[in-house]
Amino acid sequence: MPTTTRAFSISAPDIEAEKERCGGDLDAFEFSRVLKLDDLELPDPGPGDVRMRILAASAEHNVDHAILADTVNIVESRGGKIYPGNSALGEVLEVGSDVTRFKPGDIVITHCNGDPDEFGFPKRIWAYDTDDSIGWYAEHAVVGEWQLIPAPLDCGLSLWEIAALPLRAPTAYHLWRRAIGIYRLKVSEAQQPKLNVLGFGGGVSELFLMLAKAEGHDAYFCSGSPARRKKLEEQGIVGIDQKAYNRFAEKGDVKAFSNEVKTLTGGVGMHAVCDMLRGPVFPAGFQALARQGVNVSAGWQLSQVLQYNSTIASVKQLTLDHTHYETIPHCAEATKLYGSVFKPTVHDEIYPFADLARCMGEMYENTQTGVPIVRIAEDLPDSVKGIAG
Ligand SMILES: NC(=O)c1ccc[n+]([C@@H]2O[C@H](COP(=O)([O-])OP(=O)(O)OC[C@H]3O[C@@H](n4cnc5c(N)ncnc54)[C@H](OP(=O)(O)O)[C@@H]3O)[C@@H](O)[C@H]2O)c1
Repeated sequence: MPTTTRAFSISAPDIEAEKERCGGDLDAFEFSRVLKLDDLELPDPGPGDVRMRILAASAEHNVDHAILADTVNIVESRGGKIYPGNSALGEVLEVGSDVTRFKPGDIVITHCNGDPDEFGFPKRIWAYDTDDSIGWYAEHAVVGEWQLIPAPLDCGLSLWEIAALPLRAPTAYHLWRRAIGIYRLKVSEAQQPKLNVLGFGGGVSELFLMLAKAEGHDAYFCSGSPARRKKLEEQGIVGIDQKAYNRFAEKGDVKAFSNEVKTLTGGVGMHAVCDMLRGPVFPAGFQALARQGVNVSAGWQLSQVLQYNSTIASVKQLTLDHTHYETIPHCAEATKLYGSVFKPTVHDEIYPFADLARCMGEMYENTQTGVPIVRIAEDLPDSVKGIAG
């Protein structure tokens, strides 16, 4: 019998009304007027489906983009209403007759590759632009078995740290294997064994740098957050204060940052740069690149359009690479690195489910000290109580 669950939704008329109320000033935007707790009817699980209880979820930036309609108005193009949330950790309650990999009681995480192309890469992302996809900022969900990966409960991370990773870790994993793969096409390991690798603030970049560091490279984290820089410095990743360069507001700031990079790298520059933000961050990352350097991105937080000097890129043999998200088998590979390589920084407060909109607003205001986590289930299964902290 279909069941009803509490789930957050976003509707296009609410976005319009809130934009009008705050006169287009996104800083005055109240997220709780748009991201609302709703009732959602769930179908019975089909033969290949799993019914699960969501225990925790991380806040993801695509939800901020959906609420603000600041990149594309995804809610409108999905027909006027979406149920967001594409990173979750849950407990399996019931499985369909064809499900072989899971049983009731298992703890699972999701991936968000909503529509793999012929090579396995996503054409669309689940609960964002995949048609009819229903997200997981909800108490319960019905999903296909193919969307789940066993949660590595014995990896050494807390439950909240594991919940920080289902979307960001595969993104970082894909970015890193592309960056290192492209660089190695140009320069062999014998020629340049150790790379200088730079990432700009944010959860995905942090994980990208952890991958680089784990493979023995020198990693640099340019962020405006002292708390996040400190956490990465504890893992041997060098912090650079982005605010010391006024977040690259002027050309002179980019030049000063470039000089700092030269000093830090003995005049060489960065062999790989992860830039999930674009906007003013892009010229800083571009100028920081060493010869043969690679700039990778799967993000567009500050801008979607780039401008760069193609001649300089040719002369220095630079590569700009654009990625989206991992294939499903590689999402599983990334999950094997939880705890050994991926040690995410989690925001100090674990938000209650009812406060999801406040969590999203604080992510937009950039006041959090790490990846924001929302606890959805009050009563946790015994299997995770020991790591819930
Ligand atoms: N394609 C994909 O699969 C995929 C996956 C994940 C994310 N994304 C996209 O990538 C982008 C970043 O995502 P994320 O998850 O890494 O973000 P995140 O963890 O929420 O971090 C965002 C970071 O942006 C930085 N920031 C905020 N305002 C800034 C400003 N004015 N100037 C410079 N930096 C600023 C902050 O860094 P500091 O304050 O520390 O400097 C903050 O930590 C988003 O657009 C998201 O939608 C895409």
